[in-house]
This record gives sequence, structure tokens and C-alpha cells, in this order.
Amino acid sequence: MAQRERYGVDAPGVVAAMLALGAVLAAAAWPVAAGLSSLAGTTVGVLAAVVLGCYALSFWVATGWMVIGSFWGKRRAWNRLLDAAGLCGGERVLEVGPGRGQVLTVAARRLTTGRAVGVDVWRAKDQAGNGPQALVDNLTAAGVAGRVDVVTGDMRRLPFPSGSFDLALACLAVHNLPAADQAVALTEILRVLAPGGRLILLDFRRTDHFAAVLRESGARDVVRGRRRWFNYPPVRVVTAAKGPDGTSAENLDGRSRPAASSPGIDARHAGDRGRSLVE
Ligand SMILES: C[S@@+](CC[C@H](N)C(=O)[O-])C[C@H]1O[C@@H](n2cnc3c(N)ncnc32)[C@H](O)[C@@H]1O
Repeated sequence: MAQRERYGVDAPGVVAAMLALGAVLAAAAWPVAAGLSSLAGTTVGVLAAVVLGCYALSFWVATGWMVIGSFWGKRRAWNRLLDAAGLCGGERVLEVGPGRGQVLTVAARRLTTGRAVGVDVWRAKDQAGNGPQALVDNLTAAGVAGRVDVVTGDMRRLPFPSGSFDLALACLAVHNLPAADQAVALTEILRVLAPGGRLILLDFRRTDHFAAVLRESGARDVVRGRRRWFNYPPVRVVTAAKGPDGTSAENLDGRSRPAASSPGIDARHAGDRGRSLVE
């Protein structure tokens, strides 16, 4: 029987804690209401029960939202982002922190002659069931294993020569680093991009800082998009390009004229589509 792709929920510890907290609050509502009713009257007791119930419900809603984002929202968002990126299929693509490969499979499906690499340290606390074998299994199930390399490595010290990639992706990965190391990872990602290469980063925290670091590091056309609500917490997309030396910036968002692209990147295609990558 054909293998199926199997992905894991992000931040499983947080999901479990929020579910448990919701359960504790819901369980506490009745005894707290009964106790307060006898001490301060029925109205106070009922109000306390309603407040606790609302908190419990909000934890459960947020948990469901996280699960939906992990399994469905993310895939849909990246399909749209990579459609808008207008890949020609020959790119060399890097994803830092691919985990079990929700995003890497979406990218690899768009490649023909190109290749993708996923580099990760496989932290189980960041994604349930994380590991290189889980990624290989999903790539195999998606039928793209032949065009993807799976590498164990740290995004702060990428084991690739400078200028190795045309497109770098980071989905809910950079925020996992200590704040002081996030800039290190971003400059490292820029280092391994070829001139004209592009970065698409999606995250829920410190995206303003990421955009600032990219600008300070010399990236071109750095754009931080609007808040997107398919995930909890809501996320933003940051896009940037490594400018082709001495020429105008790469077109990333369909608003400016595309400059010469790096080998393997079809900048003309991206420009022709005229679609905004970050809205
Ligand atoms: C929340 S998961 C997201 C996985 C995947 N990008 C996705 O969206 O499905 C974050 C990933 O970042 C990885 N990660 C954390 N620190 C890393 C580091 N220093 N270098 C490379 N990967 C790292 C984790 O192991 C995990 O796979």
C-alpha cells in the first residue's frame, strides 16, 4: 500500500499544556462557583463560573487553531506563497528547520531540474515526531525524495558554501533560536544565497526584528507582510532578496521591475505574474 504523508503538530508541549489548562479551568468552574455562591451569593458564584468557563474555552479554541494551522493552514499558505514566487523549477532551494517537511514537500513538488535541501537539528519539542527519518518518509510518500537532500545541521552555521541557493525558506523556525542568535541565522541564510537569491520567511514572533536585521545585512526589497490568521498565534511573512551585485534589486513583490536573476531563478516569470508575495 502507498505510504501516506504524516505531519506533526508544532510545539506539542504548548498544545498539551493549553489543553490541560483549559481542562483544569473547566473542572474548577463548578466547585469555585458553589463555594463563592455560599460565601458571596449566587450572582458572584455564577459570574466566577462564567469567567472560568470562558477562559477554558479560549484555551481550547487556541489549541484547535494551532492544530488546524499546523496541519492545513501552513500548507495552504505556502502553496500560495510559492505560486506567487513563480519558480521555474530549476532552483536550488534551502529550507532551514523543515521538521517533518510540510513546507519542503510543497517546494520540492515545484522543482523539475532543481534540488532542495532541508537542514535541521530535529528538536522534538518544536514539532511532534520530528526527525530526519520522518522527513525522508514524507518526501518519499510525496514522491519527491529523489530531488531533496536531508541534512542534519544548525541554521546558525550552515554547512554550505556561500552562494549555494537561489531560494531559502524558513517556516516557524527562526523564532526557536535564542534572540541573540536569530541575527546570526539570518545573516548565515543570506550568505548561502546566490546574488539575486530570495528568502521567504514565515513566523509569529519578532518578524519586525528579522526584517531589520535583513536590511542591516544588506538584503534588498525587504518586505514584512500583514498579519495572517490561519495560524495561532497569527503569523507574518517576511521576504527579501540578495541583490545582484551592483544592479537594482530583485523583484519580490511584483511592484518593481525585476532585475537580472541568479542562475536557476526565473525572475521574469515572477514579474510577469504581477502578484504580490506578501500582502
Ligand atoms: C515549529 S518547527 C517547523 C517545522 C517546519 N518548518 C514546518 O513549518 O512544518 C521548527 C523547526 O525548526 C527546527 N530548528 C530549531 N532550531 C534549529 C536550528 N538551530 N537549526 C536548524 N533547525 C532548527 C526544529 O528542529 C523544527 O524542526
